[in-house]
Amino acid sequence: MLRGEKVKLRAVEREDLKTLYQLEQDLDLVLMADGNWQPIPLATMEKGFDKDVENEDRSWFIIEADGKVIGSVGLHHRDRRLHMSAFGIAIYDREYLGKGYGRDAIATLFKWAFDIQNYRRIWLETWSTNERAIRCYQSLGFVEEGRLRQHGYYDGKYFDVVLMGLMRSEWEARRNR
Ligand SMILES: CC(C)(COP(=O)(O)OP(=O)(O)OC[C@H]1O[C@@H](n2cnc3c(N)ncnc32)[C@H](O)[C@@H]1OP(=O)(O)O)[C@@H](O)C(=O)NCCC(=O)NCCS
Repeated sequence: MLRGEKVKLRAVEREDLKTLYQLEQDLDLVLMADGNWQPIPLATMEKGFDKDVENEDRSWFIIEADGKVIGSVGLHHRDRRLHMSAFGIAIYDREYLGKGYGRDAIATLFKWAFDIQNYRRIWLETWSTNERAIRCYQSLGFVEEGRLRQHGYYDGKYFDVVLMGLMRSEWEARRNR
């Protein structure tokens, strides 16, 4: 288990899937984390989990606060040769949005990713309209590295997808400030 100041991160267990499934019914939040979201039965989620359980190289964490599951965070598109990975996060409990829980969860994950797992670079994609996410990522040191123009669509409008990145050297420099 990884401990932050406000959150704990632990591996997703099969029993968590039902809770995550229920939390993921808040479509406005879910779409920001996965623009391609489609309604799937819980059984499909469980099947995917069971298939992936053999994969020792996965890193999908439950975010827990005050003893409750509030979302999940993890690394994906991991590239061991280049020591880099993409990352994704979603807090689905509205009570916990915009109160620093996301920042703490990400900082806790990155301490592990950079200091223990020896990643060199972490990157992400986010919607240009997702101001809360962009501000959260900027506050951790992420910088914009590019934009995919009109690459997303929501609520009848196209928007840009923003690519952001953080190097370990930048992360360490901020920590030692
Ligand atoms: C993105 C997410 C992880 C951020 O975590 P969080 O706990 O909500 O954010 P934090 O409180 O750590 O930081 C939010 C920042 O945005 C600001 N903010 C808070 N609410 C905001 C809002 N509604 N609009 C714009 N900015 C907002 C805060 O002031 C803070 O910025 P600051 O450090 O400059 O003061 C979380 O909001 C989330 O999971 N959202 C739903 C799914 C999602 O968008 N996932 C990310 C997909 S890329």
